[in-house]
Amino acid sequence: MSAKSPASLSGRVALVTGGVGGIGTAICERLSAEGATVYAADISGDPGSVPAQVLHAECDVSSEASVTNVMQRINTEQSRLDILVNAAGIEIEKTVEETSLEEWNRIFAINVTGTFLTCKHGLALMRQVGGGSIINFGSYDGFIADPGLAAYCATKGAVHALTRALACDHGPDNIRVNAICPGYIDTPMLQSFFGSSGDIDSLKNEVRRVHPIGRYGTPEDVANLVNWLAGDEARYASGQLWVLDGGLTAQAQQMRL
Ligand SMILES: NC(=O)c1ccc[n+]([C@@H]2O[C@H](COP(=O)([O-])OP(=O)(O)OC[C@H]3O[C@@H](n4cnc5c(N)ncnc54)[C@H](O)[C@@H]3O)[C@@H](O)[C@H]2O)c1
Repeated sequence: MSAKSPASLSGRVALVTGGVGGIGTAICERLSAEGATVYAADISGDPGSVPAQVLHAECDVSSEASVTNVMQRINTEQSRLDILVNAAGIEIEKTVEETSLEEWNRIFAINVTGTFLTCKHGLALMRQVGGGSIINFGSYDGFIADPGLAAYCATKGAVHALTRALACDHGPDNIRVNAICPGYIDTPMLQSFFGSSGDIDSLKNEVRRVHPIGRYGTPEDVANLVNWLAGDEARYASGQLWVLDGGLTAQAQQMRL
């Protein structure tokens, strides 16, 4: 019988935005189980199902004042930040013609400006402890497009580019910056996408069929990759866009003859 390995993130402090969402909750659970002190920052004032030891912080990532409040709280309570996970995000299921300017600005404010603001105000906290790991959320939709998600696809492309730029600028500070680009992950966001279809069961079956692995992902699948990118085993990994999609984008579309 092998001895249980010590918690790999013991002594580290993590901030997870979108921390009470589908993917965010699984990330908070995993980082906390690995020994980190975790803050779940979310626009929702309800801590949802995040474990009791995770510290909840109400925060709108599109507001600079709200982001600086959270960073000041972490500085006061912990004097450090080692891991920043930017999982807050929204989706708008519309084409460009259907999208209002207000909707376009709102999705950019949360998905892109939110990532910019947490990095802008979190980098100094990481630098003061000699480095850290930032994990942004892109999407396979930042490489290829799902129909009817125009603004969302554009925000994810922007997050990919921002991730590379951050990695270049802050590598010398020992701050690694990566993005996870999930495919279909079973969360409220995916359920809402399914909910917009007339025939949900056939859509779910079709989604499974196009995945070589034969299923869509779980939040825990994503948390596994976050845990690796956050920790010391990923010490040479930076500036990359990690597609996690069960092989979806590796496979050319198959004709059903
Ligand atoms: N679920 C998928 O299939 C999938 C695929 C690719 C990428 N992603 C990305 O993964 C990330 C997490 O998605 P999810 O599926 O967990 O979605 P989710 O809807 O379950 O969770 C998103 C969370 O973000 C929070 N949020 C929204 N606006 C906010 C704001 N202004 N400030 C702070 N928090 C805010 C919400 O309250 C929610 O808790 C998102 O960036 C999403 O774009 C998800």
